Amino acid sequence: MTEELISWSDDLSVGIQEVDKQHKHLVELLNNLHRAIREHHGSSVARDMLRDLTEYTRVHFATEESLMQASSYPEYDSHKVKHEALIQQVVALQKKVAAGETGISFELLHFLKNWLTQHIQVVDKQFGAFFIKSIRHRTSTPDTAGNVARAEEARHWWKFWQ
Ligand SMILES: [Fe+2]
Repeated sequence: MTEELISWSDDLSVGIQEVDKQHKHLVELLNNLHRAIREHHGSSVARDMLRDLTEYTRVHFATEESLMQASSYPEYDSHKVKHEALIQQVVALQKKVAAGETGISFELLHFLKNWLTQHIQVVDKQFGAFFIKSIRHRTSTPDTAGNVARAEEARHWWKFWQ
């Protein structure tokens, strides 16, 4: 049996259910692309898979960024800059692939693997810890129904992304 590019483990969990679910899906898309390359499924298949992965990554980043805004996360700007830098790199690469200047290589897949796992384990976890603390704080402040309602909103609103 051949190994997957990334195997999900609990140390990739950031503690926010929806974010974990999306990260698992990103891992799956990356593993599928890896398998397609390994099994030589053809460059147009791989190109389409890279496009789908990029599109889903955009949706995922938008989810995280909205949760950051909803919880007034102080590191929002620097986290968003990291997201934008990756998207720019991948889009530039997609253009090169489309122009036939390069192919989708194992080096690229390992770059994406390292980027994703390190990003999750460092900055996404920092945000996860902040988000959970902020929800607890809001729900435990006896300040009012308004706080509870906002916390509930933060907890549930991401369903709109599904
Ligand atoms: Fe992130």
